[in-house]
Amino acid sequence: MDLFSKSEFGLEALFKKLYFAQTETDIDKIILSDSVLSGQTNWYPIGNNYSNFGVIENQQSNPIAALIEKITNSIDAILMRKCFEAGCNPKSSEAPRSMEDAVKRFFPDHKNWDLPGFRKSQSESIQILADGPRMNTSLVIYDDGEGQHPEDFESTFLSLLEGNKNEIHFVQGKYNMGGSGSIVFCGKKSYQLIGSKRYDVTGKFGYTLIREHPLTEKEHFTKKNTWYEYLKINGEIPSFDIKKMDLKLHNRLFTKGTIIKLYSYDLPSGSRSVISRDLNQSINEYLFEPALPLITIDKKERYPDDINLERDLYGLKRRLEKDDNKYIDEHFTEE
Ligand SMILES: Nc1ncnc2c1ncn2[C@@H]1O[C@H](COP(=O)(O)OP(=O)(O)OP(=O)(O)O)[C@@H](O)[C@H]1O
Ligand SMILES: [Mg+2]
Repeated sequence: MDLFSKSEFGLEALFKKLYFAQTETDIDKIILSDSVLSGQTNWYPIGNNYSNFGVIENQQSNPIAALIEKITNSIDAILMRKCFEAGCNPKSSEAPRSMEDAVKRFFPDHKNWDLPGFRKSQSESIQILADGPRMNTSLVIYDDGEGQHPEDFESTFLSLLEGNKNEIHFVQGKYNMGGSGSIVFCGKKSYQLIGSKRYDVTGKFGYTLIREHPLTEKEHFTKKNTWYEYLKINGEIPSFDIKKMDLKLHNRLFTKGTIIKLYSYDLPSGSRSVISRDLNQSINEYLFEPALPLITIDKKERYPDDINLERDLYGLKRRLEKDDNKYIDEHFTEE
C-alpha cells in the first residue's frame, strides 16, 4: 500500500473512480490496477461470516424484487431521519406506530403529492438513475435519508440478521438482510458500491465496495462455496470529509444520505430499455402503494431521442385511482 492511498485525498479519489465507473468491467480494471484492492488483505466477509452465500443468494428470486428492497430501505431511511429531526427516538412510545402514521405526522402536506408539481419535488429525495451503455445498465439509488457513519457500516449495511429495525414500528425493514438480495444481480462479479453520510452531517462520508469473493485456484479445491465480501482499507471503512459532491444526481449535489451503485445490473428483458419508462413501470407494479414517491432518471447519452427521461412514480394504486384513468370504467359493459 502506498502513502497516497492511505491519505484522505487518495480515499476520495478512489471513491470517485469507483463511483464513475460505468460497468463491472471498469471496476475489474480499477481493482487490477490498484495494489490496495488487488490482493485479498483488504476484503472481509459480509456479516462477518464466510457462509453468507446461502443467506444472500436466497433473498430474492428476481432483480426487480431485489431493487424494491433497496427502495424500501430508502423510504425507511427518510422516515427515520424525519423522526430524529422531530426530536423523537424511533424506538420510544412517542414514535409513530405505523408507516402511515409516520407519513401523516412528518409530511403534513403529503396530500399534495397527488398533484404532479408537489409529487415531483418530493420524489427527488429518492432517485434511481441509469448509467453505463444501454445493454449493460448500472443503477444508482440515492436517498436523503438518515445515512450511516462509516463506523456503523458493519452493523448496518454490511450486517446480516441483526434486526436493527425490530423495535421500530413505522419502517418496513425487519430482518437486516433484505438489502443484500440485490448483490447477486449485479453482473457476474456482484460489484456494489455503498456510500453514506449521516443526516446531521456529523462524521465523514464513508464507502465500501462489495463483491463475490473470487476463489483462488487452491480454494477451488478446498471450498464448496464462495462468499460475499467488502472492502476496508487499513482495517477501516474508507472515509473522507465532504461538504458537497457532484455525483450527477438530478437537481442536487450530494451532501448527506446514502448512495448505492449496482454495476451491470441484471434487469429482466421487459425492464431493460429507458429506465424512466420500462423500469419505472415495473417498480410501479411491485410497489403498489409506496409511502413516499420516487423518481427514475435515464440519460441523454444513452437515449438521445427520448423526450421523457425523468419520471416520478408513486405506486400503481394511485395511478389506477386517478380521476382521468383510462383503465378503470365507471360502468360495466359486456365488451
Ligand atoms: N438507504 C439506507 N440508508 C440508511 N441506512 C440503510 C439504508 N439501507 C440500509 N440501511 C441500513 O442497513 C441495514 C440493513 O438493511 P437491510 O435491508 O439488509 O435490512 P433491514 O431493512 O433492517 O430489514 P429487512 O431484511 O426486512 O429488509 C438497515 O437496518 C439499516 O440500518
Ligand atoms: Mg430492508
